[in-house]
Amino acid sequence: MGLDILLGLQWGDEGKGKVVDVLTPKYDIIARFQGGPNAGHTLEFDGIKHILHIIPSGIFHADKVNVIGNGVVIDPVVFRKEVNGLLEMNIDPKRNLFISKKAHLILPTHKLMDMALEHQKGERKIGSTLKGIGPTYTDKIARVGLRVLDLFTPNFVQKYKKLTDNHRSILDRLSFKYEDTLHQMEKEFVESIELLTQFRVIDNEYEFYQSLKDGKSILAEGAQGTLLDVEFGSYPFVTSSSTVTAGAYTGLGINPSHQGRVIGIVKAYCTRVGSGPFPTELFDQDGERMRKQGFEFGSTTGRPRRCGWLDLVALKYAIMINGVTEIVLTKADVLTGFKTVKICTEYKINGEVTDRFPADSEAPIQPQYRSFEGWSEDITKIREYEKLPEQLKQMVHFIEQETGVRISIVSVGPDRDETLIR
Ligand code: GDP
Ligand code: IMO
Ligand code: MG
Repeated sequence: MGLDILLGLQWGDEGKGKVVDVLTPKYDIIARFQGGPNAGHTLEFDGIKHILHIIPSGIFHADKVNVIGNGVVIDPVVFRKEVNGLLEMNIDPKRNLFISKKAHLILPTHKLMDMALEHQKGERKIGSTLKGIGPTYTDKIARVGLRVLDLFTPNFVQKYKKLTDNHRSILDRLSFKYEDTLHQMEKEFVESIELLTQFRVIDNEYEFYQSLKDGKSILAEGAQGTLLDVEFGSYPFVTSSSTVTAGAYTGLGINPSHQGRVIGIVKAYCTRVGSGPFPTELFDQDGERMRKQGFEFGSTTGRPRRCGWLDLVALKYAIMINGVTEIVLTKADVLTGFKTVKICTEYKINGEVTDRFPADSEAPIQPQYRSFEGWSEDITKIREYEKLPEQLKQMVHFIEQETGVRISIVSVGPDRDETLIR
């Protein structure tokens, strides 16, 4: 009963999709509360590998309700591709997917503006996924955006024209050439909104209220990670939404009195795609090895992910912001074969040692490490926590001790079954 929130405690791609899929049987409803097609959540089971971008990761369970919350931004074109991908697998999301009337729409011009604005930033570019996220949330906050419910109004075309005329003038000012591309994109957009309007749209805040009253349980599925949060991430190298616990309340319209567990997903090392500070980033063979063994390439853009050691300063900060009640440690198997595994315990900034995550994304951070002996045995077939190598258990114990939060699940592979529940 109540609301449990699952979110990433690093820079995204912690393995949220896999863990949501593992936990789904325990819940009645799975709901996405922020982000949009910038997310790429991978699920693997029965030899199938599937990546979801907008649709919640509970969709493979026919008996579970899946909701795209008001805090999400939806690109109808990506949505259509996602739906078609599921239909090919004989999964019809129309049976159990509901969409908030209040979710905002990503328009073709939002995507072009994302490109134009990134180009304008030059060296200071954020490394956006170019899915139109920033410009769409900008319009939402500026109170000019279009929402799912607008698709059902008779004057949608006028509203669309008014907003996109404004976008065109911005693109013109940025000297961004778009006419040819935009024509094709708008054609696809029109075809795609037709499919979107066939789905059941809801007043999610009322539906959730009623469901909770009826004793149902909800799992909120976060996208991105705490260090990409617009308030608390390494600003300005962040995404444009609230990726933290508080974002689940506003992104779903559920009040905090229903709060249950806050499940923080943590990779056994760190990765980041795009620009911005990454204190423990590795530029040596260890980093290369993590990328190779962990197959660290973006699920949405295919870009190679930057890799580095686990960072406890950043992790403790994320735990504090979110009120994390338990940790799921993923990709522990990727560290197999490393002679030494390191964990950053403190930062040194301008000669001073600190355990605080700095607000200034230009702070010259020197990570201070504690080293652990590695292990060499394959752990992907292990299904009992006690059977894991002592060295890994020591690392788990150290993280628990330092953070004061229990690690309730250790993931040792991408498949649903490769999961150790303690
Ligand atoms: P998300 O965005 O947090 O859902 O994570 P992504 O799906 O973008 O990236 C995580 C990647 O790691 C995916 O390819 C997963 O299949 C994979 N993965 C998840 N958990 C594990 C694990 O414990 N071990 C290994 N080797 N891969 C994992
Ligand atoms: P999931 O849910 C990792 C990063 C981008 C860029 C910054 C801003 O799969 O963990 P945006 O397109 O949001 O304007 O990009 O945020 N980013 C992610 N990195 N995982 C994600 O999602 C991400 N979504 C956005 O690389 O640095
Ligand atoms: Mg991802």
